[in-house]
Amino acid sequence: MGHKIRKAVFPVAGLGTRFLPATKAMPKEMLTVVDKPVIQYALEEARAAGIEDFIFVTGRNKTALEDHFDYSYELQRTLEERGKTEALALIKSWLPRPGQVASVRQQLPLGLGHAVLCAKNLIGDEPFAVILPDDLVLSKTPCMQQLVDVHEETGGNVVAVVDVPREDTKKYGILDVSSDDGRLASVRGLIEKPAPAEAPSTLSIIGRYILTPTIFGHLEKTGKGAGGEIQLTDGMVKLLGAEPFHGLRFEGARYDCGDKIGFLEANIAFGLARSDVASELRRIIAALA
Ligand code: G1P
Repeated sequence: MGHKIRKAVFPVAGLGTRFLPATKAMPKEMLTVVDKPVIQYALEEARAAGIEDFIFVTGRNKTALEDHFDYSYELQRTLEERGKTEALALIKSWLPRPGQVASVRQQLPLGLGHAVLCAKNLIGDEPFAVILPDDLVLSKTPCMQQLVDVHEETGGNVVAVVDVPREDTKKYGILDVSSDDGRLASVRGLIEKPAPAEAPSTLSIIGRYILTPTIFGHLEKTGKGAGGEIQLTDGMVKLLGAEPFHGLRFEGARYDCGDKIGFLEANIAFGLARSDVASELRRIIAALA
C-alpha cells in the first residue's frame, strides 16, 4: 500500500546551546556516543531502512557534518601509507556514494516545521522520512525500518511514539488517539508541548517520522506555534482526517540526547550494548557507584 521510502531529511541547523561549551565551534550532531557522532547513528539507521538519499537541513558552522561523510583524502592516504588497514576499512565502510548526501541551508531559526519545509524541492512528490539525530534508539530492528514496515501496510503518515511520564508532555508532541491496539494507534489529534493537565494522552512523538509530501503545502501556511516557532506538529495536524496517520509504539529504547543527562545515559547504554567495551564499562560503573 505504501510507497518505497527513498529519502530522509535530517534537521541539523540547531545551535546546541544546551551543550555549550562543547558546541561553541562544533555542531552538536558531531557529539560522540561511544566513538561515533550522533549524526552517523542517524544516517546508519536510515540506510538500514533502505533509504538512499540523505538531506541535511543545516545552518552556519555546520560544515563538519558534510566533511564527516566526505572522502577524507589526507587521512585515507596517511592510513594507507602506514598500513593501518583496519582503521582505513572502518572509514571507507561508511562513505555514502557521491550525490547521496545533499544539504540545504535553513537560513533562519524558525522551527522544525520550517526546517522540514526547506527540503521541499529536494523531496519532490513522494513520502519521505524525517530523523531528528538528537533521538537515539537502541533496538533489534532499526526504528526507521519499523516505521517503513508500518507505512507499507497502512500508507500515509507514521510517527514513532513512546509513553512518557505525564510531567514530560511539555517537552514533546503528544497524540490524541481514536483507536489503539497497544502497538499501533490511529491518530485524531496532535498537540505540541502541552502542559501536563492539557495533554490528551502521554503518548509522545520521538524524532522519527514518515510523512507524505502533502505536509509541505500545510507547512507553507503554518504560522508560529509553541515557543514562537513554526512547528512540524502543527503542520501534521492538517493531515489528520485527510490521510492515514498512525503512531507506532516501536520496539526498542529511546535516548533523548537533546540534554546532558539523556546524552550521558545514551553513552552508557550504547557502551553497554557494545561487546568491545561492555565488560570494562560495567566494571567502571560498579566501581564509581
Ligand atoms: C521536536 C518536536 C516534538 C517531538 C520531539 C522529539 O521537539 O517538535 O514534537 O516530540 O522533537 O524529540 P524538540 O525536541 O525539537 O523541542
